[in-house]
Amino acid sequence: MWIFKFNIVAFMLLFVWQCNTVALQDVTSDLFGVENYGTVAAFGDFYADKQTDIFIIREQSEVLIFFADSNKPYFKPKVNISKNNLPRGTIITSVVPGDYDGDSQMDVLLTAQSSTKMTTVFIFWGHNQTLDLGGRFTLNMTFADQPLVMDFNGDMIPDIFGVTDQDPLTKVCYLTNRSPECQNALTSPVKMRIPNSNAFIDLNKDFTAGKSVKFKQCFDGNFTRADIMPTESPAVKIVGQSTFVDFDGDGYQDHLLPVCEDAACQRSAIYLAKSGSKEWVPVLSDFQRRDTIWSFVAAKPSQPLTLHHGDYNLDGFPDALVILRNTSGSGQHAFLLENVPCNSASCHSVGRMLRIHWDQSDLGAIQNAVMATFFDIYEDGILDMLVLSQAEGKNDLIIHALKNNFEADAYFVKVMVLSGLCSNDCPEGVKPFGVNQPGPYVMYTTVDSNGDLKNASAGQLSQSAYFSLQLPYTLLGLGRSANFLDHLFVGIPRHPGEMDIRKKEWTAIIPNSQLIVIPYPHNKPRSWSAKLYLTPSNSVLLTAIALIGVCVFILVIIGILHWQEKKADDREKRQEAHRFHFDAM
Ligand SMILES: *[C@@H]1O[C@H](CO)[C@@H](O)[C@H](O)[C@H]1NC(C)=O
Ligand SMILES: *[C@@H]1O[C@H](CO)[C@@H](O)[C@H](O)[C@H]1NC(C)=O
Ligand SMILES: *[C@@H]1O[C@H](CO)[C@@H](O)[C@H](O)[C@H]1NC(C)=O
Ligand SMILES: *[C@@H]1O[C@H](CO)[C@@H](O)[C@H](O)[C@H]1NC(C)=O
Ligand SMILES: *[C@@H]1O[C@H](CO)[C@@H](O)[C@H](O)[C@H]1NC(C)=O
Ligand SMILES: *[C@@H]1O[C@H](CO)[C@@H](O)[C@H](O)[C@H]1NC(C)=O
Repeated sequence: MWIFKFNIVAFMLLFVWQCNTVALQDVTSDLFGVENYGTVAAFGDFYADKQTDIFIIREQSEVLIFFADSNKPYFKPKVNISKNNLPRGTIITSVVPGDYDGDSQMDVLLTAQSSTKMTTVFIFWGHNQTLDLGGRFTLNMTFADQPLVMDFNGDMIPDIFGVTDQDPLTKVCYLTNRSPECQNALTSPVKMRIPNSNAFIDLNKDFTAGKSVKFKQCFDGNFTRADIMPTESPAVKIVGQSTFVDFDGDGYQDHLLPVCEDAACQRSAIYLAKSGSKEWVPVLSDFQRRDTIWSFVAAKPSQPLTLHHGDYNLDGFPDALVILRNTSGSGQHAFLLENVPCNSASCHSVGRMLRIHWDQSDLGAIQNAVMATFFDIYEDGILDMLVLSQAEGKNDLIIHALKNNFEADAYFVKVMVLSGLCSNDCPEGVKPFGVNQPGPYVMYTTVDSNGDLKNASAGQLSQSAYFSLQLPYTLLGLGRSANFLDHLFVGIPRHPGEMDIRKKEWTAIIPNSQLIVIPYPHNKPRSWSAKLYLTPSNSVLLTAIALIGVCVFILVIIGILHWQEKKADDREKRQEAHRFHFDAM
């Protein structure tokens, strides 16, 4: 009988799972326990175990690295850069993990603001899965704004790019082998907006990241200026941070820009510029919900208007999370913007637009939200959310973790490109994992469920300043098509002036898998290797349970039938014996 019950339980589980789509669930205490405060500043696999760890700033002066763990709480503070490890009075403005010296172990770069408003850069070197806290390195150059971490010379070791205070020239600093070397970066002086939203990404699909400086120019191949995107911002009063995603699924990166139309920021909009087009197209301008008009929050220069992207419903089109405030009241909440087909004339040329999810009560329940981003909590390929809120009388922000219980039959592919400085023979026997590599570019083409050709692309870690909070891998949704992925292309930056494009194509990738690409050696894409990890989803597990249940059930029925037959046989034999007895009489 219990077996029967078990089947019913499995069936009910399946049923409940189906009903529960798009619901969010607060899992903060499972994730952080009582440590759920501070500013989430960056993500990266510091421990080199293929699990993403979280970097959190506390009281603007301490950085804690929370390691992912298999027991609750799933994130535990393990490494602590305290006040004592930094000069007195340092105010930390951002954290950018990466392998700056090229030893395939993650280092941690901090930017700090000094009293002169200049940005200083500190680096703590990583060693043996921890940080060398005593050996702080300070770059002897200060920047006018937070620098961009990018791979300027195409050697797959992150470099630091920014504008210095001495002259308006751009500088790039290399730290290979811990010997710092700074040079002039771009030949012509550029005036950059502060706060900047510089990005290092492939705009023209040549699989080489080019650098983009907002509204001034884009820099191509060997960083010559190329006017791929509009050079002027739309005619608005407040301009937010640029982001680059493949918004319409054509394989090219589009430029998204949140703005306020007026100085008081009462009217907001999000504009998009397609690659190769000089025109700004509004993809969201209706911020009214019943009597309330919502708008972006343009209060603090340290937290500019920002979109955080992620494909939460795995349909192949990136969605976004934003913070909006009630323009007539004081409420401030996080909202999910879903990427949907365009239904008005203004966005016709893009074909897609954003729609605000007004009824996401779990997000609305978080009062005074100040930042919201996507994060894959359980490494299951479904993006969950982290929301930071300001509580009254507290210095630090409160962290809320919301699990996305999205369980439609949608598929994804997760690609992480490593530095490829070594593969199996890394120095000191370290694993090649755990380097946040800026610049690689990932693109797929496949056939969707309607039989149409579909493309999507993404750049890995294209931005680093002002809490861009990008994940150290790319997660591309595939929609409901469970087909093998026909073509997956991965490209990495090349040396300036080099002609050969460094890219490799993989075919027939299984959906719902994680691909870790080791581009070693850099200049021989044929030898690059990829490790494929499958992520069994909940539905697969449930199917397995249900299947085993059914098997057991059938076995039991067979057993019962067998037993009944045996009993009948026995009875027959006994009767026969009886008859024989009679006959004998
Ligand atoms: C980090 O270290 C400092 C000094 O060692 C200590 O005061 C602080 O409490 C530590 N923070 C955490 C969260 O462990
Ligand atoms: C690395 O750290 C572990 C403890 O965390 C220690 O046992 C080991 O000796 C260290 N290895 C090296 C090479 O320092
Ligand atoms: C930084 O240090 C290098 C060598 O250590 C030196 O050559 C350079 O002039 C210094 N730059 C500044 C701006 O002090
Ligand atoms: C996808 O990319 C291929 C090759 O670059 C191109 O031929 C095709 O038109 C693209 N499809 C869409 C829907 O953009
Ligand atoms: C926005 O603020 C006004 C004034 O405080 C209030 O009446 C209204 O209910 C608020 N709207 C929402 C959706 O909370
Ligand atoms: C590099 O830039 C120069 C101009 O500075 C240009 O003439 C040259 O063609 C570029 N080379 C490549 C490979 O793009």
